[in-house]
Amino acid sequence: MSRYFVGITGGSGHPYALALIRALLENGQDIDTSVTEAGIKVLRHEVGIDPGADGANLGPALTARLGKDWGERLRAFPTKAIEAPPSSGTALTGGVIVCPCSMGTLARVSVGFSSNLVERAVDVALKERRTLVLVTREAPYSPIHLENMLRMARLGAVILPASPGFYHRPRSLEDLVDHVVGKILDTLRVPHAVGARWKGLPPPDEDAGTGVPPPRDPLAPEERA
Ligand SMILES: Cc1cc2nc3c(=O)[nH]c(=O)nc-3n(C[C@H](O)[C@H](O)[C@H](O)COP(=O)(O)O)c2cc1C
Repeated sequence: MSRYFVGITGGSGHPYALALIRALLENGQDIDTSVTEAGIKVLRHEVGIDPGADGANLGPALTARLGKDWGERLRAFPTKAIEAPPSSGTALTGGVIVCPCSMGTLARVSVGFSSNLVERAVDVALKERRTLVLVTREAPYSPIHLENMLRMARLGAVILPASPGFYHRPRSLEDLVDHVVGKILDTLRVPHAVGARWKGLPPPDEDAGTGVPPPRDPLAPEERA
């Protein structure tokens, strides 16, 4: 069992953050978390969670959404709490995941800039050579974004873009979210049953009865009706 830091920024994709936190807790891992100033606005906008001014209410807001009080296993810190344990390399963690990771946070951490707890936690992961996963999200990526991702990858970070695949034939938004969350958990080497694992292409005439959902074009007229 480890304690992971999940940093939430102003990138789009906050359902990924919620699903990741839930999955880590349910798989026996502990969580420290914090949200950036921009992340507070996007969290409110995308998933209707209000962490309050300076993210001070993130803990109770998450507890209410998760439907369970995880006690000390889920610790949330205000945006600017640079005195919190994740600010120091002496506080051992299993790793740091920034999910979603905005291009702003990506740029700042790529030059060692720490203006809040999320950025400082990344800085610590880099200096301590710990597992660091950046769930980047933007479209399209500019050359600056790409260069920053390459710099971070060369420093040892895993760049794991929030780009779910369709080869597992998702039936719902939850399936798409789980695909990305499962990839994050795999990167952390946390055992899980989130999302489907690829078992190879089923022969077309053997689709029925294999448990693999049938192929489906979600944009086909009959699906959209
Ligand atoms: C609704 C909404 C969605 C956004 N989505 C993205 C995004 O996907 N990627 C991104 O890099 N910035 C996105 N932004 C812009 C960032 O929030 C903005 O650049 C912010 O300064 C990032 O700050 P932070 O890195 O401290 O969280 C979005 C902003 C809003 C309001």
